[in-house]
Amino acid sequence: MPRVTTDQIRQMKERGERIPMLTAYDYASAHILDAAGVPMLLVGDTLGMVVLGYDTTLPVTLDDIIRHTQAVVRGSKHALVVADLPFGSFQVSIEDTLAQAIRVMKEAGPQAVKLEGGERSAASIRALTAAGIPVMGHIGLTPQSVNVFGGFKVQGKTERAARTLLDDAIALEAAGAFAIVLELVPSELARLVTERLQIPTIGIGAGAACDGEIQVLHDILGLFPDFTPRHTKRFGELGTAMRAAVDAYVSEVRERSFPTEKQSSSLDPAVLEALKRAP
Ligand code: KIV
Repeated sequence: MPRVTTDQIRQMKERGERIPMLTAYDYASAHILDAAGVPMLLVGDTLGMVVLGYDTTLPVTLDDIIRHTQAVVRGSKHALVVADLPFGSFQVSIEDTLAQAIRVMKEAGPQAVKLEGGERSAASIRALTAAGIPVMGHIGLTPQSVNVFGGFKVQGKTERAARTLLDDAIALEAAGAFAIVLELVPSELARLVTERLQIPTIGIGAGAACDGEIQVLHDILGLFPDFTPRHTKRFGELGTAMRAAVDAYVSEVRERSFPTEKQSSSLDPAVLEALKRAP
């Protein structure tokens, strides 16, 4: 089965088929998500927060995205892999954006890139799609602009902000985006955008009316037991399960009950004897 295409993602909207999407940052998890049939994987710049431990996504570099996208591409066979363009890689000029995106496509092999921003990103999206690079847009709470928003807050709540968001969505579609992430947007507004656009909307904290949903893998797996953002749900308790497994390992090593003969190999007794006799 070949990889999912951007056309197939658009057809899923036409058929009214929901589009589940998850972030993936490494080979092992990409392998599991791909086997589960997740049609689109995002190597998001959230990797800066959930994998590298930064407070925001701003320090993530193009090299970080390339390294993690390479792993996700190697770990998956069927999913459409989208690489996030990090802060600084698409703000300088259209020529520079094109150069950075081409580097990601050549060195990491995803099927598409994603970049944040509404109308201000439309010209870049037009240039990338003209160069043969499918682009996913991202509006609403765009985490790379967290310092402008003053925190991770719901966007599009006033009539003016909601109109701007709708115009942004229309501008991204006109520029050639194949899908748009709507992050932290009121459900009613997300529904309106979804109804206005031909291309799929992928929500996160945007209600149930979007064509698809994206979540950060670490959030749905419960890898951070002490923190659950409001827009997510823990479908597993892997953080707690990992802690229990590590505790068990540490005690067995301390008590000398691991490793056992089962995990070991033995030496021919004659070789052992010879070694013992040797000076
Ligand atoms: O970087 C990311 O993981 C994202 C999603 C939260 C949409 O942009």
